[in-house]
Amino acid sequence: MIELVVNQTRRRFDGDPATPLADLKGKSITTIEGLGAKGLHPLQAAWIEHAVPQCGYCQSGQIMQAASLLQSKPHPSDSEIDSAMASNLCRCGTYPRIRAAIRLVASGRKAAPANAAKQDRS
Ligand code: FES
Repeated sequence: MIELVVNQTRRRFDGDPATPLADLKGKSITTIEGLGAKGLHPLQAAWIEHAVPQCGYCQSGQIMQAASLLQSKPHPSDSEIDSAMASNLCRCGTYPRIRAAIRLVASGRKAAPANAAKQDRS
């Protein structure tokens, strides 16, 4: 998540206040590495199937935001996906593939990462 400092207050890119690290003492934090600690997470497999990343810069944040969305809303609509993902910017414009990967996980169908190379990157 990108943070900005506005009038001495740290803010996330979407304008909400950032959570100081000290406020997370004693709480569990999952990172992109932890998400797939026991093998590919369904979102990671879906990301591969849909060949989502281009440069890759934003992708850790995109996947973590998608994981958060699906945890709170397992079957989001397209508008709910767009709304949840709106604060994660992708300079490469991978939004259609991100949405497709999230839809795949929400559908319950297992991704087939071996077919990733055959996917159309449209
Ligand atoms: S894949 Fe390049 S910024 Fe998102």
